[in-house]
Amino acid sequence: MVAPKHHVFVCSGAKLVGDKKGTCNSRGCIEVARKFMDEIDERELSGDVMVSTASCFSLCSKGPVVLVYPEGVWYGGVTPEDVEEIAEQHLENGEPVKRLVL
Ligand code: FES
Repeated sequence: MVAPKHHVFVCSGAKLVGDKKGTCNSRGCIEVARKFMDEIDERELSGDVMVSTASCFSLCSKGPVVLVYPEGVWYGGVTPEDVEEIAEQHLENGEPVKRLVL
């Protein structure tokens, strides 16, 4: 298996203990994750970018939270409308979207 150039983790809002639906979930993280998957498909980046959902990152007040590795960039308050900009600027051109970085 070839490692992807970028791995995007979208908080699913799931907690390991307690509430299954945390803040990111109530703020639309599932739509954010779906939009990332659509953008990756449309831009034909599936060989370079992997998208996964993850459980709570303990930054709930900043949600929806998205992490991009290997850079270790944390984004907060991400909406589906922001995903196109992250895909183009960060995933394709290597430049994080500063206005969303935590
Ligand atoms: S629910 Fe997303 S960071 Fe906690």
